[in-house]
Amino acid sequence: MSVNSDQFRDVMGRFATGVTVVTTTNEGRLDGFTASSFSSVSLDPPLVLVCIGKDATCHDAFSDGGCFAINILSADQADLSVRFSSDVGDRFDGVAHEPWVTGAPILGGALAAIDCTLHAVHEGGDHSILVGRVERLGPLREDADPLIYYRGTYRSVS
Ligand SMILES: Cc1cc2nc3c(=O)[nH]c(=O)nc-3n(C[C@H](O)[C@H](O)[C@H](O)COP(=O)(O)O)c2cc1C
Repeated sequence: MSVNSDQFRDVMGRFATGVTVVTTTNEGRLDGFTASSFSSVSLDPPLVLVCIGKDATCHDAFSDGGCFAINILSADQADLSVRFSSDVGDRFDGVAHEPWVTGAPILGGALAAIDCTLHAVHEGGDHSILVGRVERLGPLREDADPLIYYRGTYRSVS
């Protein structure tokens, strides 16, 4: 059976997800992109994954780099989701961030963050599957709800 791309997007969009901004650093340069394809993989060892499009300008910075951080966005951070999926020049301009263990930027105001070393890169069609080994993780806010993405629009749980 052949799969129509519009139908594929429509059906996948009915799976409500959280929203993350995935970040990395290479020789002082920061990169980041919005991603909803985040998943936990393994508890022992602690592994997570995220998929990145092979045509993303920052693809090689992630696949050839040594680390990445998953920033789980709060309900009031839809502007960051838009920013990190748009052509705005320096996506980090005016965005508060700090390094944890690996140096990948942890974004201020995120709900929680997961700092990883790059464990493996797997083939995934027009995407690469980045598997990270968790080096540090933690909640950043207890007062906020998660940002939700469903059928192309931002929602919150409340
Ligand atoms: C809510 C949302 C979720 C997204 N999830 C992913 C994802 O999981 N993987 C991905 O490669 N791109 C995803 N994108 C698209 C990328 O953020 C966007 O194509 C990317 O920032 C473009 O990168 P570039 O400017 O470096 O080419 C998502 C965009 C949005 C708005």
